[in-house]
Amino acid sequence: MAALAVSHVYPLGSRLNGEGRLEVGGCDALELAREFGTPAYVYAEDDMRARARAYLEAFSARTERFQVIYAGKAFPCTAAFRLFAEEGLGCDVASAGELHLALAGGMPPERIYVHGNNKTPAELERALAAGVGHIVVDSFDELERLRGRGARVMLRVTPGIKPSTHSYIQTGQEDSKFGFGLDDVPRAVAACAEAGLELRGLHAHIGSQILELEGFERLADVLANLGDWPLLNLGGGLGVAYTAEDEPPSIEDYVDALLRHAPADVTVLCEPGRSLVANAGVTLYTVGTVKRIPGVRTYVAVDGGMSDNLRPMLYGARYEAQIADRFGGEDPCTVAGMHCESGDILVPDARLSDPRPGDVLVIPATGAYGHAMANNYNAVRRPPVVFCRDGDARVVVRRETYADLTLRDA
Ligand code: LLP
Repeated sequence: MAALAVSHVYPLGSRLNGEGRLEVGGCDALELAREFGTPAYVYAEDDMRARARAYLEAFSARTERFQVIYAGKAFPCTAAFRLFAEEGLGCDVASAGELHLALAGGMPPERIYVHGNNKTPAELERALAAGVGHIVVDSFDELERLRGRGARVMLRVTPGIKPSTHSYIQTGQEDSKFGFGLDDVPRAVAACAEAGLELRGLHAHIGSQILELEGFERLADVLANLGDWPLLNLGGGLGVAYTAEDEPPSIEDYVDALLRHAPADVTVLCEPGRSLVANAGVTLYTVGTVKRIPGVRTYVAVDGGMSDNLRPMLYGARYEAQIADRFGGEDPCTVAGMHCESGDILVPDARLSDPRPGDVLVIPATGAYGHAMANNYNAVRRPPVVFCRDGDARVVVRRETYADLTLRDA
């Protein structure tokens, strides 16, 4: 049997090999499961590099003044920071913990932007001591905390743009905990000067998993009307495909929309997270039980769930699933996790091929906000992160051990 392509939801370069088994980054999914155990987050390194390059190329085809900043919260992993630093990206961090990981990954401090609506004095101190490039100031209280420190700053603005996405991840609307409202910007600009801070520009992030470009187009216009600074940071937010039917805008069309109304003499920054890493990653699980309730439903339970992927429970996010060596099944199944909550469902409406205990089940598009939001509910150990490239696989984050679970006991 010849190798077959899989849908665009899977990492670039994925295929079904001659035996009908999924390959990611040239590695056989069943062998990965055997070698590293399940659940496991598996990433195709080349996919992340290709998407980073797509951003750089889309910008450089249109302007000489730009920076692409990896929003580390999507996949806060030392190895990912290292990879994107190698590709020439900067990064943003949303806490001192993410800053720690970015620095450990060798991200040059001057390329780091520090976010957060409530950075503690200790976090600001760490960021300044590390020599980060910019602090993105979120409030008047934070401005006071930075008084006299001479920091280079940007101001986060809520531009009054409400994109169509889940309300939990809308951030550009006036009613937001983040940033300065448009009316407060002149006062914040004056306060920066008065506090001895070097104001380098404005920042706005309207939300995440956004599939329509219209809001992005308006953004540069709204910010450019607030004054002239060297930098304009337009945030992240480009949506991705979670199922084969999803057709998100391309990186090129997104960058084109961002730049449409951007002033020519300004350096435009953008902060993609999800669109750099979501489709680079899949999660491998092992099927443990298959419960058929005649006339009702078939539950296929796997060895992970809401501890390694909170998104279905938190946002009602939709995913698809396949048996890793029998793609293309038609049996309606509900893929359930192993946690003790009925709501711990990963995919309510999967179509699988005769699922059986011992099968390796794959859920694609878990590369963003999966590892990032993983937790220890039910004292479940968090999965490893495995990077694959040209048929070689390496663990970049090991699986948690039982000893890890008692490590913090005092
Ligand atoms: N910049 C800022 C200031 C942000 O707050 C975010 C995401 C980004 C950039 C990157 O946005 P992206 O390109 O990834 O859409 N946990 C949620 C997503 C939360 C997004 C938070 N901020 C989820 O799983 O969908």
